[in-house]
Amino acid sequence: MRRPDVALGRKLKQMVKTVLDDQILRYGAEPGGGAPTKVKITFVDSKGQARTVEGEVGSTVMETARRNDIPEIAAECGGACACATCHVYVDAGWLEKTGARSQMEEDMLDFAFAVEPNSRLCCQIVVQPELEGLIVRTPAQQG
Ligand code: FES
Repeated sequence: MRRPDVALGRKLKQMVKTVLDDQILRYGAEPGGGAPTKVKITFVDSKGQARTVEGEVGSTVMETARRNDIPEIAAECGGACACATCHVYVDAGWLEKTGARSQMEEDMLDFAFAVEPNSRLCCQIVVQPELEGLIVRTPAQQG
């Protein structure tokens, strides 16, 4: 029979590993630790001007836009999926990697201007290492 303190120690060790793995997945590894912590994202405005900035893994594309003063993204609700003023068009090659819209996002997009099949609310796109090089376009008008 195992001693209870040994079993508890193993269980705690597994719990800590699970939490750390989750943190790495969500926020990226420490510098030098493997997974990138930042990715390049290009925002192309409605006039065709491209701006490439770095987005932190674990943040959202909307937060990346706001931190870098990207025009044409108002994000009035701060990312609560309640305003539809962070509307972007995801470039065709990135649709699969950015994932599908949630039902809440679908409902909120009803209030967005000029919605297209590749429309997303960028507060709902979490920056992940796989999104290195992501390209999104902004509409001429929000809301
Ligand atoms: Fe309001 Fe995205 S910031 S819906």
